[in-house]
Amino acid sequence: MTTAERPVIVPLPPHLTHPFAPAGRADPGPAYRWLQVHDPVHYDPYSRMWWLTSHAACGAALRDNRLSAALGQRERARDDALPPSMLTTDPPEHQRLRNPGQLLLGPAAVRSLEGVLGEEIDALIGALPDRLDAVEAIGAPFATAVFGRLFGLPRTDWARFELLAGAASVNLDPLAGSERAAAGRAAMAELSAFLTAHARTAVAGPLGRLMADDRITEREKTGILGLAVVGGWQPLAEMVGNALYWLLPRPEAVAALRGSGGGDARHGDEDGGAARLLVDELLRLEAPIPFTARVATEEVPLPGGTVPRDGRVLIIIAAANRDPAAFEDPDELRPGRTPNPQLAFGAGTHFCLAAQLVRTASALLLPRLLGGFPGLALTTAPDALAWDPRPIPRRLLRCPVSTTGSADAD
Ligand code: HEM
Repeated sequence: MTTAERPVIVPLPPHLTHPFAPAGRADPGPAYRWLQVHDPVHYDPYSRMWWLTSHAACGAALRDNRLSAALGQRERARDDALPPSMLTTDPPEHQRLRNPGQLLLGPAAVRSLEGVLGEEIDALIGALPDRLDAVEAIGAPFATAVFGRLFGLPRTDWARFELLAGAASVNLDPLAGSERAAAGRAAMAELSAFLTAHARTAVAGPLGRLMADDRITEREKTGILGLAVVGGWQPLAEMVGNALYWLLPRPEAVAALRGSGGGDARHGDEDGGAARLLVDELLRLEAPIPFTARVATEEVPLPGGTVPRDGRVLIIIAAANRDPAAFEDPDELRPGRTPNPQLAFGAGTHFCLAAQLVRTASALLLPRLLGGFPGLALTTAPDALAWDPRPIPRRLLRCPVSTTGSADAD
């Protein structure tokens, strides 16, 4: 199709709600499933974007650099007053920014943090009350501890960091209205200033190594830190509630995790540690970043359809991760699913630079949490829990649990 032609619009059948309509957001699954079968490269007239829903189309699109992340992300997050980021940059410039980022988030950095992260998680779990909201009382402090240790932040700065990280996370949401988007950009500017001031003092640890690298400028380094926080803090925090939502009603999955010990989950281990496999399966089922955007720099044929030049593309990771063509029983939690080609971390050029950190930290947390509290249970029926009406990140608003299993806990 050329840009002069009008896209063919395949309407959703009337019994399915548009996934971004308020009523469709809590469970976009049925509409995604229908699109996968009937129109996997679908022009959505409301968002004026090409929606990719099949695993084949999403995987191919993520790996195709003719679909520009720089143009796709710029629409929502780019603010030229802020430092550049590798996610808003296409190859070959992208690699120049990503290589130094490995000093902060690569395998050596993650290995160096494993011991201290274990200690942080033990302290967090040891202080939990009997009744709590896991989103607020476990997810947020867990993510803050990971970043606090990664950046070597003084503990007295953790609360401020958490506030700024939460406020700047609005930048993840491409549907944020202009007021929220402006507030998100203002928070991002404040976060950048905070991170720059701190980074100037860093001499040790992964951040110290990044700051000592002379391949990129200080401003570019701050860009990496800002992206890490906006792209990572909230998804990491939300992963916890999403995981407990799936795990706690399923004793066999909990048993698999409790038995895994949590120490065998390093990325690169060939033993396929149970905790690590389970983390990937949980991210498949409830991808915290359910979609990402691109713009086609030329006509791009994909499995199931063609995106025209200048077409704005929405790669719906959450749909791809439940595609029956790629996953047997896609709506079931299978703790040891192997292989698991889930796309929660993206794929190709912009594959999440912190995937190993996320897998390691989560595989340290979950077995400790479930092992430490044999009675841990949801205190609200899973289908009564409320999902955030904003589609990104995918998150429970609250996840009330009892650490002792008492049913009247909430
Ligand atoms: C559960 C938690 C996380 C999920 C689900 C996740 C998911 C993703 C996804 C889907 C992308 C690709 C976006 C695209 O292609 O448009 C991405 C990129 C990225 N993520 Fe993550 N992320 C998580 C946590 C983190 C954390 C904790 C950090 C940093 C500490 C981080 C740092 C990055 C960076 C730097 C990129 C850009 C890579 C590039 O452009 O080359 N992420 N992440």
